[in-house]
Amino acid sequence: MSIQLAARTRHMTSSAIRDILKLTERPGVLSLAGGLPSPEGFPLAALRQASERVWQTQGAQAMQYANSEGLMPLREWMARRISRPGWAVSAEQVLVTTGSQQGLDLLGKVLLDPGSRLLVEQPTYLGALQAFSVYGPALAPWPGDAHGSEQGLEQGPDPQALLDAAQPGPQVAYLVPSYQNPTGACLCEARRRALAQALQAGHTTLIEDNPYGELWYDAPPPDPIAVHAPHHTAYLGSLSKVLAPGLRLGFVVTPPDEAPGAQALRTRLLQAKQATDLHTPGFNQRLVLQLLQDGFDLDAHVSSVRQAYKAQRDAMAAALQRHLPEGCVWQVPQGGMFFWVQGPPGFDAAATLPAAVESGVAYVPGAAFYTEGHASKGRQMRLSFVTLSPDQLEEAVSRLAVHMKVALVQAS
Ligand SMILES: Cc1ncc(COP(=O)(O)O)c(C=O)c1O
Repeated sequence: MSIQLAARTRHMTSSAIRDILKLTERPGVLSLAGGLPSPEGFPLAALRQASERVWQTQGAQAMQYANSEGLMPLREWMARRISRPGWAVSAEQVLVTTGSQQGLDLLGKVLLDPGSRLLVEQPTYLGALQAFSVYGPALAPWPGDAHGSEQGLEQGPDPQALLDAAQPGPQVAYLVPSYQNPTGACLCEARRRALAQALQAGHTTLIEDNPYGELWYDAPPPDPIAVHAPHHTAYLGSLSKVLAPGLRLGFVVTPPDEAPGAQALRTRLLQAKQATDLHTPGFNQRLVLQLLQDGFDLDAHVSSVRQAYKAQRDAMAAALQRHLPEGCVWQVPQGGMFFWVQGPPGFDAAATLPAAVESGVAYVPGAAFYTEGHASKGRQMRLSFVTLSPDQLEEAVSRLAVHMKVALVQAS
């Protein structure tokens, strides 16, 4: 008799991106597929030095069990780093997580019942769908216009949707307001305020996921929505894009003490965290604390990462302009790691991926990021610009363009 799996495993999906990444390991393939930060942005020498000091001065503590909330000095530092005028975050509000991906899972565990209405943008971050789906929510595509932009109130997810709780029970909304994965879109300040107002008027809890907020190339993004609606928002941050994803350090910021339900949310999140992994590795937490204590200037570091990514973004924008066939549509992202490109009518991004990999370039077909049908999703693709050098980006886009032109002729 075969092993019987729990019913909830039927909701589990594998990430299409990981499957595609396997294909791109072939030699000679230039991959625009993975959302991998550039290794050149990892401060390896400083991390090595800090690591040696951790071993010398606190090796045993680093190897011991630690508390589930995270080390207090790290929570204090995280709270200080994200606080801003109008949003004074305390260390008690911060739960250190094993990547913000774990924060998504823990929030899913404590906020979602089977059948809970969960509003998600179309398209949205695949890893969030993977984390939430296990808890059986009723996924509701969040109606909106275009996919957000700097331009005005009418762009982005509709605030009204936060007020229509069509079903009984909790309603949760998930949003990446700054440099979204996959679209790169950034919500303007007016839309953020409108969403915050709707949160305050209704019964929806927002999960605001902000791993890319510091990766801005032209001007910083507007304040997070949590600043305007702190009582209704669970905010997720990450060190993956500003330091290194291998550290697996992220955090959840829960609403302040006086918010109704804040204490219960904190207690349940902590219990969920204990059940999942007891705590985030103490060595990694101590490593970052030591790095900071040694005088590592994270702001200067992030600024240099921004500079490199901006050059890569500009190289990609120029290459797309130069090579892509007529009828392609995209916007230059103001931050983050991705271009979102829509091919001309007749282009099928998923069907032509294997041939594209054969011709030496990989991307992620856009359909993977939707929970349901969308008229042009088959023509869309996500292109990452942070892993390859400007010269490689030029070559990758030129290969992609040749491939698209061949595919379009074959389709016609
Ligand atoms: C929108 C979004 N949220 C969360 C994550 C997870 O990041 P991490 O677990 O490395 O902090 C990612 C990773 O790419 C992401 O794109």
